[in-house]
Amino acid sequence: MNKYTKTSSFLQNQFDDLSSKEKNDFLRDLESFLKDQDSAYYGSNISNISDAEYDRLKLLYHKLVTNNPELIDSNYSNSVGFKPSDKFEKVNHKVPMLSLSNIFDNEGVTDFIERVRRYLSLGPNDNLEIVSEPKIDGLSATLIYINGNLHIGATRGDGSQGENVTQNIKTISNIPHEIKDSDVPDILEIRGEIYMKKSDFFELNERMQKEGKQTYVNPRNTASGSLRHLDVNVTKSRKLYFFAYTWGEISSIDAASHFEMLGLFKKWGFDVNPYTKVNYNYDDIIRSYEDLNEIRSSLDYDLDGVVYKVNSLAYQDRLGFISRSPRWAMAHKFPSEKATTKILDIEIQVGRTGSLTPVAKLEPVNIGGVVVRNATLHNEDFIKGLNSEGERIRDGADIRIGDHVQIIRSGDVIPKVVDVNMKDRNKDSEKFIFPENCPICGSSAERELNESTGKISSVRRCTAGLYCNSQILGSLEFFVSRDAMNIEGFGGKTMELFYEMGFINEPGDIFTLQERQAQGEVDIISLEGWGELSMNNLFQSINERRSVSLDKFIYSLGIRHIGINNAKLISQQLTSVENLLSTLEKIRHDPGDALQIFIQNDGLGKVVISSFLSFLQNDKNVSILQNLLKYIRVTDVTNVISEDTAISGLSLVFTGKFNSMSRSEAKDQAERMGAKVLSSVSARTDILVIGEDPGSKIKKAEELGIRIIDEKEWMSLLDF
Ligand code: IVH
Repeated sequence: MNKYTKTSSFLQNQFDDLSSKEKNDFLRDLESFLKDQDSAYYGSNISNISDAEYDRLKLLYHKLVTNNPELIDSNYSNSVGFKPSDKFEKVNHKVPMLSLSNIFDNEGVTDFIERVRRYLSLGPNDNLEIVSEPKIDGLSATLIYINGNLHIGATRGDGSQGENVTQNIKTISNIPHEIKDSDVPDILEIRGEIYMKKSDFFELNERMQKEGKQTYVNPRNTASGSLRHLDVNVTKSRKLYFFAYTWGEISSIDAASHFEMLGLFKKWGFDVNPYTKVNYNYDDIIRSYEDLNEIRSSLDYDLDGVVYKVNSLAYQDRLGFISRSPRWAMAHKFPSEKATTKILDIEIQVGRTGSLTPVAKLEPVNIGGVVVRNATLHNEDFIKGLNSEGERIRDGADIRIGDHVQIIRSGDVIPKVVDVNMKDRNKDSEKFIFPENCPICGSSAERELNESTGKISSVRRCTAGLYCNSQILGSLEFFVSRDAMNIEGFGGKTMELFYEMGFINEPGDIFTLQERQAQGEVDIISLEGWGELSMNNLFQSINERRSVSLDKFIYSLGIRHIGINNAKLISQQLTSVENLLSTLEKIRHDPGDALQIFIQNDGLGKVVISSFLSFLQNDKNVSILQNLLKYIRVTDVTNVISEDTAISGLSLVFTGKFNSMSRSEAKDQAERMGAKVLSSVSARTDILVIGEDPGSKIKKAEELGIRIIDEKEWMSLLDF
C-alpha cells in the first residue's frame, strides 16, 4: 500500500531515520508516484502537481539515489522525462587535462619528428623512440588513488575543472577500486579513455527501437551521457570500459619511459590498449598507423586516429607544453568516412560574429553509424567552385540545390561537401545566388578587405554588429557557454526564450535577473517549464560566477579572433581589469599608442591585436563591458613566473645557433625563469644571448651597451 499520497508526505519524511526496509519502500513509492506524474504529463499532457512540486520531488529522488546507490532497484530513472542533471560536484585538476594537436598526413609525422629533434637538439645518431597508441573515441577521465584506493573519479570538463563522477566510475568493471601492489605510489592519478563497445551500443539501440524510444547517435556520446547519469544504476547497465594511457599527479615515478609506465599500469590492474607499440623510426610509425587503420573496423570500439608520444620521460619533461597541448605528443587522425546524398535546400546561417555561412540541408544519410542531415558549404566562393586563393576546386563545379554530392565526416568535425556528381545534375537547376543582405536583420552583408594580405575575405558578414539580433543572441549564448563564463542552466532554448521575452539583452542583464525577479520586473516562474526550484537553481549558478579571471572574462566577450589562448596572452599582458580600462581610455586618445602595448608580445598576431582594439573602440561594446563590470569581479592574472632567478624580470634576446638546446627550448626556459623574450634588440633589452653565427644583432647590442653573453654563460645562468 502506498502511504504517500501527495507531495508533502514525501517531502516531510525524515528519510535518514528510517530502517533500510522502510527506506527501500519509501524510494519505491516515490518512484511510482513520479512515474504516475510522468505518464499523466507525457501521456495526457496534464499535471496533477505544480512544476515546482515536481522539481522538488525529482531533486529529492536524485539526492536519495545518489547518496544511497545500494537502494536503487529499478529502471525508473532511465524512463522518459528523466534528464541527466548537470549538478555534479566540481573537481579541480591539479595537473591540467590537456588536448592533443592533430595531424592528417605522413608529412605531419615528418614535421612532428623533426620538430621534436630540433627542439631537443638531437644529432643524427641520437635515437628517438615514439610510442604509438590507438586514439580511442570516447571520453577522457581521471582516477585518483590514495594509498592504492580509488578516491575520486572525474571527467575532463574544460581541462582545468571536471565533474566528480566517482560513484558512476566505480560501476566500470575494468577499473580497480583498490590497487593491491606494494609498489603503488601513495598518490596516483591514472588517466585514460572511457568508452562503450560498438556491440553494446548497437544492442542498446535495438532495445530502444523496440520500446519505441529515441535511439542514440553514437557510442561516444552515449558513453558520455551514461557516465554522467545521476542514477549510477544506469551507468552500470550501459557497460562502459576504460583504457589507461597517461597520468596526472603522482607522488613518485619508477619508470624512465612512457612504455615502462604503461607496463606498471598493467601490473596495477588497468587495461592498456594491446595495440600500443614502441617505434624506432619514421617507417615504423607509418606502419603502425597503417596497420591500425586497416584493423580499425574490425575492433569492437571506435578509433579516430593514432596518438604518438615521445617515449623518454626525460625528453617529455624538456619538451613541455605549448598552450593546451604537450609538445611531446601528437594525434594522427584517420581519413574521414564518405557518403553520397542529395542537397534539398541551402540555408544561410548567421554566426555569432555576423558571418553568413551557407549550410546544405541534405537527404538524411548514414555515415559510419551517424545520421547526417546538414553539411557546411563554408562560404559563397566554395559554392561557386573556388578556394580561398581564388583557385578552382572540384574542376570549377558550382553547388546547386538538387545536386547529388559527396559528404565526409570525421569525429567532431561538421560534415563537409567535398564533391558534386555533375552527371546526375538536373538540367533545369539554377546557380545558387548568395544573398548580399543579412537574412536576420536585412542589413547589408559585406566581404571585408584584409589590409595585411590585400585580399577580400571569403566570408560575407552582416555589418550591423550587436544591433543584429542573431549576433546579440549568439554572443549571449557564447558568454554563458562552458569554456566562457560557464553559467549552467542557460542550456537548450533558455537564453533564446529570455532574450525573446526581453529579460536579457546584454551580458550584464544576466546578473540582475534575480533582483528584477524579486522586484516583479520579470516573471520567470510563470514561463512554461519553469518552477521556483529551477529558477533558484539558475540564480545559484549565476551567483557562483560573479567572480571570473581576466582571461576568461576577455574570452567570454566573444571578440573575433580571440580564442582561449589569445585571451590568455592578452590577459597576461594586461594582468588586471584596471589596466584593461586604462587601455580603453588610451584608445580614445591615441589608438597607435595602445597598439604598442601589445606589439611586443611575441605570441599575439597583428590581426588579433587589431580585432581586440577595434572591439574596444566600439561605443556599444564599451557600454556593454562597463555595465557588466558593475556586477562581476574580475580577478587579476598572475603570471606564473619565478621571481628568484638570475634573470627574472629581465628582457632577453637570443640570436645565432645553440648547441645544447634549440632556440625555442632556450626561450621557454627563460620564460619559465621569469624573463621576457623579445625578438629584436632595443634599448629595453637587458641581455643578448649569442650562439654560433650571431649576425647583426650583436652590433646593435654593442652600440646600445647591452650585456652580451655566450651559450656557456647562458647555461650557467640556468643552473643558478
Ligand atoms: S593522451 C597529455 N592518449 O584524445 C596527453 N589521449 O585529442 C593527453 N585520447 O582528451 C591525452 N586516446 O580524450 C591520449 N591514447 C590516447 C588517447 C587519447 C584517446 C583522447 C583524450 C584526449 C583527446 C585529445
